[in-house]
Amino acid sequence: MQEPGLAQKAQVVLEENWTGSFTCPAQGLYPHQWSWDSAFITFAYAHYNQERAEQELLSLFQGQWRNGLLPHIVFHDKSANYSPGPGFWQAERSPAAPKEIATSGIVQPPIHATAALHIYKKAQNKKRAKEFLKKIFPKLSAWHTYLYRERDPNNEGLVYLRHPWESGQDNSPIWDHSLKRIKLQDADIPRYQRTDLQFVEADYRPTDEDYVRYVYLVKLFCKLNYDEKEIFKKTPFLIQGVLFNALLSRADRDLAEIAKVINEDPKPFERWAEKTAKSVNEKLWDEDHAIYFFYDMVEDELIDAHVASGFTPLFAKIPTEEQAQRMLDYLNSHSFCHLTETCFTVPSFDKREPGYSPSGYWRGPVWINLNWLIFCSLELYGFKEYASYVRSSIVELTRMHGFREYYDPEEGRGYGAKNFSWTAALLLDVLYDEPTT
Ligand code: GLC
Repeated sequence: MQEPGLAQKAQVVLEENWTGSFTCPAQGLYPHQWSWDSAFITFAYAHYNQERAEQELLSLFQGQWRNGLLPHIVFHDKSANYSPGPGFWQAERSPAAPKEIATSGIVQPPIHATAALHIYKKAQNKKRAKEFLKKIFPKLSAWHTYLYRERDPNNEGLVYLRHPWESGQDNSPIWDHSLKRIKLQDADIPRYQRTDLQFVEADYRPTDEDYVRYVYLVKLFCKLNYDEKEIFKKTPFLIQGVLFNALLSRADRDLAEIAKVINEDPKPFERWAEKTAKSVNEKLWDEDHAIYFFYDMVEDELIDAHVASGFTPLFAKIPTEEQAQRMLDYLNSHSFCHLTETCFTVPSFDKREPGYSPSGYWRGPVWINLNWLIFCSLELYGFKEYASYVRSSIVELTRMHGFREYYDPEEGRGYGAKNFSWTAALLLDVLYDEPTT
C-alpha cells in the first residue's frame, strides 16, 4: 500500500458515509444510494472488505424494477431531506417499479458488471465470491437486457439516454443545444425545490435554466407512467451517449467473464459487447478531432462537444491502436493538459472550447471517476507516461485539497460536496495496486 496516511483518511470517509447497508455519495447533499456511485465505491471495498463490497451492490439491486431497469437513486430512507424525492418521481406509476422500496425512474451508466467482476478478482474468499456472482448474475443480466430491449429501438447496439442525469454528467456542454431546443411555458414547469443549493453555492451547480428542463423531463416520464415506448415517441430529448455505451460494452464483456466463472453461457454478452463496440466506432468517432461524440437522435446528428468522457471508449478497448494514439495526442495537448503544463489533468471539457469553466461542475473541472476511467484505459493501451500523469493528479488533488466532489484543473481547488465517496474510493483503488483492468 502506497501513501498509508492518505489511504487511511480515504477509508474514514467511506466509513462515515456507510449507512449500515449502503454508502451514500456524501452526507447532506446526497443522502441516498446512487447507482454508479455505488459501483465505483465497491472498487475500494473489494480490496479490504469483500463482504461490504458485495452488500453495496446487492443493496443497490434491491431497487431494480421488474423490467430490469436499475434506477439511478434508491431511496432506502424516505425521510432524508432530498429533492427531487420519491413524491416527485412517483415511480409507482409504472407497474414495473418495486412496491417495497422507493426509487427514481431513470438510470445511470452501467459499470456494475465490471464492479462485480472486480469484487470476484480481488476476493480473499473465492468460494463466497462465487456465490455472490451467482446471486448477482441474473440481476445484471436483466439490467443489460432492459437496456438493449427498451433503449435501442433501431437495434444498433447503442443505448439512448432520455435525461442528462442518466449520463452522470448533469450539466455538461454536451446537452446545451438539445436542452435549449425544449421551449417551456410557465405552465409546463412543475413545482420543484432545489435542496442542493442548501449545501453548495449556486455558482457551482447547474443553472435554473437547465434545472427546469431536468424537472420538466421527469414530470413528462411520470405523466407517461414510465412507459418506454411512449417516452420514446414523445420526449424531446434522446441522446446516444459515448460514456454510457462504452461502459456498457465493457460491462457486457465483464458479464461474459462472470458467466464463465459460474458456468453460464457467455456468448450473448460477448455478442452485445461486440455489437456495441462496433457501433460506437462507426457512428460516434470523429475523425477530425480524434475523439468520440454523442449523438442527438432527435436532430439526427453528432453533437460537437469535446468532453473528457469522449475518451472513455478506450476503457472498452474500442479504438484501434492508431485511433488510440491520436486520442492520446489530443489528451496530451493544451486542450486538456499537456505533460509539460502545470495543471491537473483531466479537465472534463476541452479548455480551449467556448463555455469551458474551471469551476463549472461538468463544464471543466476534474472529476476523479473520469480520471480513474481514463487512467485504467491508458494503462490498457500501454500509454504509461500519461497514465501516471493522470494517476498523480488523483493523488495530488486528494492530498492537497481533500476528498471533494470535483476540482479546478488549474489551481486544484476543490468544489462541491466534501468527503465525497467515489473520490475516496477510487483513490484507494489506485493506491492499493496496479490498474484494476
Ligand atoms: C451528481 C453527479 C452524478 C452523481 C450524483 C451523486 O448528480 O453529476 O454523476 O452520481 O451527483 O454523486
